[in-house]
Amino acid sequence: MELHRALIQGGFTSMRLMRQRAAFDLQVAKRWDTDLDFANYPQRFRLDQMVCAVPHVLGNQDARAAMSGARDALARAEELLVAGEHEMIVMNVHAALGMRVVNHVHSSAMGLLNGFHALRAGGVRRHEPEEAAEEVLIDGLNLGRGMSYKNAAAQIPFGGCKMTVQCAEFPLDDDARLGFLASCIDAGHFFTGPDMGFQPELADVLRARFTRNIVGGPNGSMGPTGAPTALGTFLALERCARAHWGSSDLEGKRALVQGLGAVGLPLAQMMKRRGMRLLVADTDEARVRTAREVLGDVEVVPVQQVIGTACEVLAPCAVGGVFGEEEIARLNCEILCGAANNQLRAVSKAGELALAESVAARSITYPPEWMHNIAGVVAGYEEYRNQDDASAERIRPHLERVCGDGITSLLAEAKREGRTPTALAYGAVESRIA
Ligand code: NAI
Repeated sequence: MELHRALIQGGFTSMRLMRQRAAFDLQVAKRWDTDLDFANYPQRFRLDQMVCAVPHVLGNQDARAAMSGARDALARAEELLVAGEHEMIVMNVHAALGMRVVNHVHSSAMGLLNGFHALRAGGVRRHEPEEAAEEVLIDGLNLGRGMSYKNAAAQIPFGGCKMTVQCAEFPLDDDARLGFLASCIDAGHFFTGPDMGFQPELADVLRARFTRNIVGGPNGSMGPTGAPTALGTFLALERCARAHWGSSDLEGKRALVQGLGAVGLPLAQMMKRRGMRLLVADTDEARVRTAREVLGDVEVVPVQQVIGTACEVLAPCAVGGVFGEEEIARLNCEILCGAANNQLRAVSKAGELALAESVAARSITYPPEWMHNIAGVVAGYEEYRNQDDASAERIRPHLERVCGDGITSLLAEAKREGRTPTALAYGAVESRIA
C-alpha cells in the first residue's frame, strides 16, 4: 500500500520520516480536523492554531504499527533517503481536497542560523494524481538534492529541498486548495517558487493572501529570471576568456548561441554589445526572426550543425544533455560557457566528471554551468529577503562575486592542480552542504 493511503486509513493527516545516524525517526499525526476550512488560512487560523479535537500523534514503534500496511513503501522510502543522503520527507495529505504534499528535504546545513523563517529553498512542482507515488518520490528527492547543490553554488544561506504536490490542476480562485498548499509551504520552513505543473501566477496569488514564503510570480518585484541568468553567464564568460586567452577582451571573437529564449537572447545582446561576432541557432523560426530584429547582423547556423561549427565561444542555452563523448570529440570551440542545465549527457556525478575530463582533454575551457547559471535562486533569495523592495540591481554584486570571481578562482585552481573545474566545483559545494 502507498504511504498516503495508509495515513488516510489510519485517520492521520501527516507523516515525517527523518534519517538519523543509524536509524529512522517516524512520526504520524492527525494535525487537523476534516471540517477545517483551509480557505481561511492564515486569516482565521494559523499553523500554530490549527485545532484538532482529538489530536493524535504516534512515534516510532507505534507509528510503524499504524503504517504496517505500507511497510514496503516505507522501507523503499528509507532506502532512497539513505542512498541520496537526505534528511527527511514530510507528507501532508488532504483526502477531501485530493492533495498529497511532500516536502523532500535534502540538507538544512547551509540554512542553520541564517536568521530567516526558511532554512531551505526549492521549488514546488505539481504531479498528476495518477502518477506512481514512488516515481514522484524519486523525482522530488533528486530535485531536492539538486537544490542543495544549486544553493551551495549560488552561495545563498539555505539548504536544499523540493516540494511535490500530487493533485489535479486547480484554478487560482480555489481558496481551500490554495490555503492548504500555503499551510504546507509555511510548515516546511523553506521558501519556494512555482515549478512545472503550476503556473507562475500561483506565486502572485499565494503571496497576495496566503503566504509570503513563495516568490517568482510575474508580478513579483524581481520579474523574470532569464535576464539575470544571462548576466551571470556573461560574467562567467568574461572570466573564462581571461583564463583562456589572458584577456577578457571579447571584441571580434565568434560566439555561437544555441537557443534564443529567455536566457539566450539577452546573453546574445550582451555579447553583441562587447563586440563579439554572433552565430545563432534555434529550432523555432520565430525566435530566429526575433533575434535578427533585435541583434541585427547575425549568422544563422542550422541546429544540427551547432556542434561542429567553428567559433571561439559556444554558449548552450537550450536543452540539456547536449554533449556526450561523440559530440565532445567534434567540438570546434575554445570556451564552452552557456546557461542550459545539465549540458553534459550524464546521469551520475561519475559520468559528469568523466565527460568533463574529455572536454578538458580537448583544451576547451568549461566551467560547469551549475556554478554560474544561479541567478534564478539568487533573485529568489533577494525577493524573499526584501519582499516588495527587492531589486534586480542589488543582486549584481552577488552575481559578480559568484559568477565572476568564483569562476576565476575555480579556473585558476583547476589549472594549478591539473584537475577539471567540474571536479573542483563538486568538492567545493559538497563541503558546504556537509
Ligand atoms: P526558453 O524556453 O525561453 O528558451 C529555450 C530556447 O531554446 C527556445 O527558443 C527553443 O526554441 C530553443 N531550442 C530548443 N531546443 C533547441 C535545440 N535543439 N537547438 C536550438 N534551440 C533549441 O528557455 P530559457 O529560460 O531561455 O532556458 C534555457 C536553458 O537555460 C534551459 O536549459 C534552462 O533550464 C536553463 N536555465 C534557465 C534559467 C532561467 O531563469 N530561465 C535559469 C537557469 C538555467
